[in-house]
Amino acid sequence: MSFKIALECAARQKDSNIILALDLVSDSHSALLSKSIALVKKVQPYICAVKINHHLVLPLGLFNGVQKIIRTTHSFDLLTVMDCKINDIGDTNRVIANNYYDAGFDAVIANPFVGWEEGLQPVFEVAKQMKKGVVLLCYMSHKAAWEGYGQTIQQHDKLTAQYVAFAKKALEWNADGVVVGATFPEKIRDVHQILADKVPIYAPGVGAQGGDVRAAIQAGATYLIVGRTIINSSDPAAVARQIREKAHMRDK
Ligand code: XMP
Repeated sequence: MSFKIALECAARQKDSNIILALDLVSDSHSALLSKSIALVKKVQPYICAVKINHHLVLPLGLFNGVQKIIRTTHSFDLLTVMDCKINDIGDTNRVIANNYYDAGFDAVIANPFVGWEEGLQPVFEVAKQMKKGVVLLCYMSHKAAWEGYGQTIQQHDKLTAQYVAFAKKALEWNADGVVVGATFPEKIRDVHQILADKVPIYAPGVGAQGGDVRAAIQAGATYLIVGRTIINSSDPAAVARQIREKAHMRDK
């Protein structure tokens, strides 16, 4: 089963399209690990996946602490995504993807700016061999995203927006998803027009970054990636449940 289908199944089974961004910080590595595992256990009934990034991999190490978090996450039938934004030459990208997949991650996030040949092609090859997923950046959630993803480019003698070209590449490369910031519902709408239901849209940026749950869903987001709004609340499970209810797929 592809990662795309596996995540659809997890979302259906958990009745949730919320992906927890497990972005905890702590001066103590052992506290960081135990807090991360405790948070996954608390929030797990209300999410379909956990996204991890450098907040945890740098202090805890991939094959030590992070692998324990991946195993805990999988024990609740949730999937795991590594937000490593792969962005190097192909041979290096292959090694990066291989390591994250070997550690147990179900999918990685990659940056289409590096292109296909000697860029992301090896990542897609490894993903295929290992039956894992690749999610592409399309339009990021932060304010300066327009400087890169919003540029106008010339392609086949026509002017087009960079993120529109990336959405088309996601189709061409058979990506498992694209990331478009919930902070830009109009960009989600544009991308959704290109991808329809063929490639799901992952939208980070609700809450702490100012994005609105309903606006992102109504524009066409399939999954919402949520970190600080859940993590920093006094009752993370209750907040995750509320966001899930607000985002509910049936209300789309
Ligand atoms: P917050 O706390 O803002 O966390 O809910 C959002 C999480 O998502 C990551 N992030 C992104 N990842 N493309 C990505 O691949 C993006 O455009 C993007 N915007 C935010 C962020 O690092 C955090 O983990």
